[in-house]
Order: sequence, then C-alpha cells, then structure tokens
Amino acid sequence: MIEEINNVRKEIEKIEITNVEQLENFRIKYLSKKGKLSDFFDWLKTAKPDQKKELGKPINELKNILQNTYEYYKAQFDLLISGLREDTDLTLPGISINIGTKHPLTLIQEELIGIFRKFGFAITDGPEIEDDWHNFSALNFPDNHPARDMQDTFFIDKDIALRTHTSSVQVRYMEKNKPPMRVIMPGRVYRNEAISARANCFFHQIEGLYIDENVSFADLKQTLYYFVKELFGETVKIRFRPSYFPFTEPSAEMDINCRICAGVGCNVCKHSGWVEILGCGMVDPEVLTNCGIDSEKYNGYAFGLGVERVAMLKYDVKDLRIYFENDLRFLNQFNTIS
Ligand code: PHE
Repeated sequence: MIEEINNVRKEIEKIEITNVEQLENFRIKYLSKKGKLSDFFDWLKTAKPDQKKELGKPINELKNILQNTYEYYKAQFDLLISGLREDTDLTLPGISINIGTKHPLTLIQEELIGIFRKFGFAITDGPEIEDDWHNFSALNFPDNHPARDMQDTFFIDKDIALRTHTSSVQVRYMEKNKPPMRVIMPGRVYRNEAISARANCFFHQIEGLYIDENVSFADLKQTLYYFVKELFGETVKIRFRPSYFPFTEPSAEMDINCRICAGVGCNVCKHSGWVEILGCGMVDPEVLTNCGIDSEKYNGYAFGLGVERVAMLKYDVKDLRIYFENDLRFLNQFNTIS
C-alpha cells in the first residue's frame, strides 16, 4: 500500500496542468468520490490498527498535496477567467496591435547617412536655434544679404534665429576640430516661405564638409557622383551648373537626370529632363579663417542637399506637404515591418 501512495506522489510531481479541462480530469482522477484518494481512505477504514498507525500519516499528507495542487491551479484559472464576461466569445480573433513605423523622411535620411558613412564621413549635429555668427556672419553673408531679411529667416531676437541651413553646423564643427575633417550634418532647417507643394517653412538637409590639404573640385565631383550612383543606381547622370553661395568659391549646383520622366520631360523637372539635387563648392578661405583654420595650408569642399527633394525623386511624390500631414494612408505605404 505504501508503494501505491508513493507512486501517486511521484505522478503528482510530474503533472502538467495547462487548462481547465486537465484540471477537472485531475480532480476526477484523484479527488472525486471514485478517485484514488477516496480508495486510500476506504482501505484505511478497514485496516488493522497497526496499519492505520503506519499509513494514516502518508495518506493524509497525500490528501494535502492533492488538495493544494488543485487549489493552486484553480486559483490561476479563476484569475484568468474572472476578466471575461459570460458571453465572451473566446474564439474571436484578438485585436491586432498597431506598431509604429519609420517616417519616409527618416528612411531616406538613414539611407543617405549610410552612404556617406561608407565613404568615411563622420556625423555631427548642432542647435536649431542659432546665433547670427554661426548661421550667417562666419559664413561670409554680408550684412545686407537677403537671407537675413525677415522674409527668409524666422528671427527670435535681433541676433538669434531658427537656422536657415545646416551650414551653421559646419562652422561649429570647424571651430572645435582640427583638419583633416570629413563630416556630414543632418538636421531640420527653417525658412520663412509661403507653404506650397514645392516649399515648406521647414525641411531637412544633409550637409557635408571635407577639409584637408590639397583638396580639389575633382574630389568633390567624384564624391558626389558616387553618392548619387549609390542612391539612384548606375544609370544616373549628373551635371554641374555654376552658382553662388557666400561661403563657397567656386560654387555649383548639381543636377541629376530626372528619375520621374527619365529625361522625357515632366512637371517635376519643368520639362528640362534635369532636377537640381544639391548645392556645393570649395569652402571660401575666409570661412576657414573665421573658424580658426589655417587657410594657407588647408582647403576643402562642402555640399548641402535637401532630404525632401531626394525623397520626392525616390518616391515620386510631387507635393512636399504630404510628408507632414500624418495621413496614415500615405505613411502606411512605407511600412517596412509588415
Ligand atoms: N547651405 C546651402 C543651402 O542651404 C547649401 C550648401 C551647402 C551650398 C554647402 C554649398 C555648400 O542652400
């Protein structure tokens, strides 16, 4: 008899109860009127006094173990079930959780940064609220330059404004670091413009700066050519047009052949087959001097591109405003998770 009691104990140690049905089977098998425990008690009633003495204790112990086990699992299942109403249909599918996704501009920005990383550029950033020196003066903007005008710049104070370009970060970086330097600065910039399909009062730029000895315009061209090839594929064509920026000399704007109409002519490329993608140039020696860099020894190039513009060409989205309207029908198309 003692062996039988021990066998039941061993069974209980190994038992796995994962649902209410298994718990009910457990109750019937061990604790019901026809269950094992009551068999032991029946036997005990007719047992001889010395057997009663010997086996009474282990049978009672077994009873406690069985009851405790049952109570433990019952409490667990009661807890689970208590949250449900009687008419809850457990077979209904659950409510799916909406997982956030990356914004299309974030995706493009990450791609652009990834390409420059491969070229060995480091990343830095700076404040969006900027002083006149970093946003304008150090970059050679004359006092009467139209960019300083209230129409272009959001001024907070006489000398404090929302940065109009990330070139301000170039100044900050050059002030704090020594050449050679190869760095990009992504960030949000602000311009006081009328909002339209092609312009917004804020947008995102990535600027790049390369300062070393004997840097040439050919270095700039090659870097930018490889950059757009990585971004748009081998078939991309580029052209440079002379331009003007106060902080670069010579300055240029770079166009790529229109990705939307393949050069045939559309309203994005204004029927020219080319779209401007970035501004660039050789850093003006005066700017280097302003930032404490020996312009006799070092020179370099800089470039700046608009993230929205790249996104527009990559995704064929012609209206910039849609990026900031948070329309889920638009954003869900960039869902990279599901
Ligand atoms: N800062 C310029 C702009 O916002 C872009 C630029 C950057 C041009 C670096 C030349 C060199 O338009």
